[in-house]
Amino acid sequence: PIPVIIDCDTGVDDALALLFAVRHPGLDLRAVTCVAGNTDVDGVVRNTLTVLERAGAPDVPVGRGAERPLLEPARSARHVHGSDGMGDLGLPAPTRAPADVDAVTLLRREILASPRPVTLIPTAPLTNIALLLRTHPEVTRNIERIVFMGGAVTTGNATPVAEFNVWHDPEAAAIALTAGVPITMYGLDVFMRVVVPGPEVHRLRGSTEPGTRLAGDLLAHRPTQQGGDPEAEEAGGLGDAGAVCAVADPEGIVTRRLPVEVSLAPGPARGQTIVDRRPRPGESEIHEGRRELALVDVALDVDVDRYVKLYLETVGRP
Ligand code: BDR
Ligand code: CA
Repeated sequence: PIPVIIDCDTGVDDALALLFAVRHPGLDLRAVTCVAGNTDVDGVVRNTLTVLERAGAPDVPVGRGAERPLLEPARSARHVHGSDGMGDLGLPAPTRAPADVDAVTLLRREILASPRPVTLIPTAPLTNIALLLRTHPEVTRNIERIVFMGGAVTTGNATPVAEFNVWHDPEAAAIALTAGVPITMYGLDVFMRVVVPGPEVHRLRGSTEPGTRLAGDLLAHRPTQQGGDPEAEEAGGLGDAGAVCAVADPEGIVTRRLPVEVSLAPGPARGQTIVDRRPRPGESEIHEGRRELALVDVALDVDVDRYVKLYLETVGRP
């Protein structure tokens, strides 16, 4: 299996991503690290521990990470994810504590200890990842790739042009993109499209297996938030889980290597990912060695049916 670490802000759809990663036989989830995003970092840690217990993976180490972005105060998305940051499903408190080391230390330890290069899957603001890459650059030798949910080619969600994870900590995203590690951007454009139809959500909710049932309840939490047909009863987006599907089954997305720049200037474009799709993108800038320009494998298309099927098969597995 592919060794993976998820860095998340659990989070309704982060929880869907964790359930998938735990159950996919081709993935070896070695650790989970938490960062402020959808809710405060202590809430994220709680939610993450609860989901892992529910998923039957109580031994995966969980690290508590950054409380706030590099420059700005934290701004939660509780209006989207509920007051507990995870859909207010009334889940029990976790029975264990997080690791006794912080997220960056845990990331470094697990990356360097892995017998095979690790794929990092951030589904949250990139604060922990930026701190890791700046503090312990030696980890890059054992990172296969970063596959992150964040950014957008066309339209944003946190602002008209910026996607939440990048908008929440644009400096961190800029650091991660330019670190020289191969990187795939599973952005909002594909993220929005992968929606599980209502009858399938209904079927998951009826399961007697706790992890499978939780996936159904999470998918039912916010029918229209992540795209899809608002009329379709209970249909729910896979959201962040799509980025984990892209690691388990990379053939399901179409990517193109393109220059991407994060807009850092204050003002209405802050946090936008500017993706250069010109026929000979950014050539002069690359030759000039402008360090802000990163070459990123940007997901431009996704096989929706393939990922929905993959998700349903995987989370239906005990
Ligand atoms: C991203 O923001 C969060 O609310 C979701 O969990 C996802 O990671 C989408 O913009
Ligand atoms: Ca998330």
